[in-house]
Amino acid sequence: MKTDVLLGLQWGDEGKGKIVDYLANKYEVVARFQGGPNAGHTIIIDGKKFILHQIPSGIFRKEIMNIIGNGVVLDPITFKKEIEKLEAAGIEPRDNLFISQRAQLILPTHRMLDQAWETLKGKNKIGSTLKGIGPTYQDKIARLGLRVGDILDASFQQKYEALKASHLKHLSDIGFADEPDESPFFEAVEFMKQFTITETEYLLNDQLNKGSKILAEGAQGSLLDIDFGSYPFVTSSNTTVAGACAGLGIPPNTIGEVFGIFKAYCTRVGSGPFPTELFDETGEKIRKSGAEFGATTGRPRRCGWLDLPALKYAIMVNGISRLFMMKADVLSGFDKILVATSYKLQDGTITDRVPFDHHLATPIYKELPGWDIPIDEMTDESSLPVELRDYVNYLEQELATPITVLSVGPDRSQTIIREEIFV
Ligand code: GDP
Ligand code: IMO
Ligand code: MG
Repeated sequence: MKTDVLLGLQWGDEGKGKIVDYLANKYEVVARFQGGPNAGHTIIIDGKKFILHQIPSGIFRKEIMNIIGNGVVLDPITFKKEIEKLEAAGIEPRDNLFISQRAQLILPTHRMLDQAWETLKGKNKIGSTLKGIGPTYQDKIARLGLRVGDILDASFQQKYEALKASHLKHLSDIGFADEPDESPFFEAVEFMKQFTITETEYLLNDQLNKGSKILAEGAQGSLLDIDFGSYPFVTSSNTTVAGACAGLGIPPNTIGEVFGIFKAYCTRVGSGPFPTELFDETGEKIRKSGAEFGATTGRPRRCGWLDLPALKYAIMVNGISRLFMMKADVLSGFDKILVATSYKLQDGTITDRVPFDHHLATPIYKELPGWDIPIDEMTDESSLPVELRDYVNYLEQELATPITVLSVGPDRSQTIIREEIFV
C-alpha cells in the first residue's frame, strides 16, 4: 500500500499533532521521520492535553504501530519523560512503539553546544529551541554521531566518552567550561533498552508489502526546511516531503497523498524573516485568541496574516495533494482579514515568488470581510459564516489545491470534513 505524508506548510505549530491523532485510525502505522524534541505536537482528547516531542502522535491508538524513524534525532531524557507521562495517563506505549537503530542520539553535550553557539551569535541568534538539534545533525553529517543502536553495543561507553571529550574541548576553546550532568542521560539510556530498537526500514517496507497504510508525521514546517526555509533561520533537517523517504527508508513511489497543514494566519517562533508579521494590537489579538505560545519552549509566537506566496512555495516543493486549514476559529471577531497575495521587492518588482532575500519582501495585501460569530461548535460547513466560506473558497482557488478539512478548535471533535479523504 502507500505512505501518506502530513506536513506543516508554514513555520511549524500548524496543528500537525491534532490532525495526525485525528487521522491515525485510518492507518496501521504512524511514523516520525525527522526532527526531535524541538517539536511540540499538542493533542487534546476529551479535554485532556498531551504534548509530544519525540513520540509519534498515533500513540493514543493501541492498535497502531508507532515508529521513530532513522531521520529523527532522539534525546533519551525527553523520551523517558514522555513515556512516563503517557503511562501515568493510562496509555501503554511499550508494545506499539518501535525505534530505529539508525536514529541519532542527542547527548547532553549537544545541548550545551546548541546553547553556546546561540550565545555566541548574539543578536543574530537563530532562536533555537536549545534541544541540541543542530549540533546532533552536524555530527551526523560529519560522520561522528552516535546512533540508538550503539547503546546496545559493549563499546557504547567508550564511543560516548570520545565524542563527549571532543565536544568539551571545543566548548572550552570557545569559552564555555561547564561539565554535563550525565546521570539522567545514562538512566534514560538504560530505560530505552526496554523498548524495541530495530531495523525500522525493514519493518516499514514489510508493512507496505503486506498492504498496510502508513502515515508519516512531519515535524516543524516547510519554511523551516534546511534547504527551502529562510536559511540560516531554519532547523537542521529536511521538513519537506523528500525527508520522509530519507528519514524512513521508504521509496518515493510508495508515497500516496501529501497532506499540507496551514493555519488561517501565520505564526513563527524564533528569529528570521516573516514578511506579514504584525507588531500592533491585531497581532496581539491573534496571539491571545489563538493561545500562540510555544508548546516546547513556552515562548510567545510571532503572529501575522496569511502569506500566499510562501504557502504556494510550500505547496510546490512538497507536491501537496490536499490542504487542511487550521484555527479558523481564532479569526472570529476580526472586521477584516488580510492575505498577502504578492511581494514588492527592493527594486520595485512585484512578484508572487519567494525571493532569496525573504526578509526584503514587503507584502501586498488583499482585504476580505471578517465574521464576528464564534464557530468552534459548528460541525458542518453549511453552518459557517458566509465570509469564512468565501475566505476558504478564495484560498482554494488561489492555491489550486483542495482544502479538505477545516479545523475549528483544538479537540478531535472540532473538525469539519469538506470532502471525504478515505472513500
Ligand atoms: P504542531 O506542532 O503542528 O502539532 O502544533 P502545536 O501543537 O505546536 O500548536 C498548535 C496549537 O493549536 C495547539 O495548542 C493545539 O491544541 C491548537 N489547535 C490545533 N488546531 C486548532 C484549531 O483548529 N483551533 C484552535 N483554536 N486551536 C487549535
Ligand atoms: P513543531 O513540530 C515551531 C524553530 C525554532 C527556531 C528554529 C531552529 O512543533 O511544529 P532548532 O531547535 O530546530 O534548532 O530551532 O526552528 N522550530 C520550531 N518552530 N515549531 C517547531 O516544531 C519547531 N522546531 C524548531 O523556534 O526558530
Ligand atoms: Mg508545535
